[in-house]
Amino acid sequence: SKGAALVAAVAQRLTSLRRQVSETLSLFRLKEEQLQLVKARMRSGLDAGLRSKSSSTIKMLPSFVYLTPDGTERGKYLALDLGGTNFRALLVRFKKQTSRLYHKIYTIPLEIMQGTGEELFDHLAQCVCDFLDYMGLKNTRLPAGFTFSFPCEQSAIDTGTLVAWTKGFKATDSEGHDVVSMLREAIKRRNDIDLDIVALINDTVGTMMSCAHEDQRCEIGMIAGTGTNLCYMEELKNIEKIEQRATKTEEKTQKGEKNENAGAEKNKKDGEMQKMCINTEWGGLGDDGCLDDIITLYDTEVDQNSINQGKQRFEKMTSGMYLGEVVRQVLLDLTRRGLLFKGHVSETLKTPGIFETKYLSQIESDRLALLQVRSILQQLGLHGTCHDSIIVKHVCLVVSRRAAQLCGAGMAAVVDKIRENRGLDHLDIAVGVDGSLYKLHPHFSQVLKETVRVMAPQCDVTFQPSEEGSGKGAALIAAVARRKRDV
Ligand code: GLC
Repeated sequence: SKGAALVAAVAQRLTSLRRQVSETLSLFRLKEEQLQLVKARMRSGLDAGLRSKSSSTIKMLPSFVYLTPDGTERGKYLALDLGGTNFRALLVRFKKQTSRLYHKIYTIPLEIMQGTGEELFDHLAQCVCDFLDYMGLKNTRLPAGFTFSFPCEQSAIDTGTLVAWTKGFKATDSEGHDVVSMLREAIKRRNDIDLDIVALINDTVGTMMSCAHEDQRCEIGMIAGTGTNLCYMEELKNIEKIEQRATKTEEKTQKGEKNENAGAEKNKKDGEMQKMCINTEWGGLGDDGCLDDIITLYDTEVDQNSINQGKQRFEKMTSGMYLGEVVRQVLLDLTRRGLLFKGHVSETLKTPGIFETKYLSQIESDRLALLQVRSILQQLGLHGTCHDSIIVKHVCLVVSRRAAQLCGAGMAAVVDKIRENRGLDHLDIAVGVDGSLYKLHPHFSQVLKETVRVMAPQCDVTFQPSEEGSGKGAALIAAVARRKRDV
């Protein structure tokens, strides 16, 4: 009959719609072999980056952090933290194995993030001044650790030139400049406060240090937040760039010239400095096209709309700043194809940045009923049916799952490298982790751990969420740096 034919037609159309949605989502479902390839590519990137004449997309930046804290750190330190959406100033006080912390958060207006370097650093100096005033410390000269979470080519613990901005920062006249000098100069220009900046630190390194304070097995630091990155302790002998420099300085010294690396050389002889922490900047994997086989057209769209096109391709598939954008690109496409929101492309959906990580976390939460998902979408200005909500939730799930798996594959490459470095069949290691994606997302950490377990079966990896990594860790590094300097 006519009725039955109609029902059959509707059912067929529904099946076809579902198939189209599921085909789109399957682009994000990585097979085991694909993840193995990612692991292998990460591994060659890590190896290449350590070589002295490397053109690796993984920068492998020496951090000049050799020592792990030993619990004898004492005194008051300032930690300054720039790298996510805010700037934070912290006062950390170490007293008998414990630490206390006071902090204040300052927002960085977009026009300052993307203005001139001088304006940005003047703004930071202004915030530091406000903080010291607030703490009643304006007239003291405290040792400070500067956590600056962007790639810096360091030549010592307290100097480093910015290689390239990442994560939406774009202040001019900063790339290629020493960021510690820029901060010192901004402070000098004010002429009302004084600081002793003793260390420049990447957030991954701070995270590793703060966890190492509690657990000696911690030799990796990872951030899965606005950006994604990892650092780990590498054998000094494998870091060609540093080894060559050390040899050169040795030759110079024999010729009677000044040895800038004297402290390092002495410690090395003492057997204290077998390893140095390397900031991998793994977010750059894929910048040479090596991930093109798994990159989707949605990822390409996100990259094209970013302010650093062609750069940080791995980061753009794995970090908080971009996951929402990947989701939005998929939703836009599904809507344009008439598979979602009745084919109506709203202004909201066309707005970059509407899907912040916190919404992804909420939408994917297992405890949330569909009606609640629908109401979150409505709050965002996306009006749809319950069926639309199901699709949106699926999109979020596949995008964040892929992110966690990619990080897991990368981590597997790192732990296997460390295991091989030490000639071990089995490695027991701990990772200090921080970042909103890791800490607040309902599934990210679980998928990450599971992927590492499967992909690095010879390693036992314990994940430790860091408490105040970039604050306490920076203060610890400052304490160790000062101890060394004062010896
Ligand atoms: C970006 C930065 C890196 C930082 C990471 C996490 O990838 O380039 O230095 O560690 O974000 O904040």
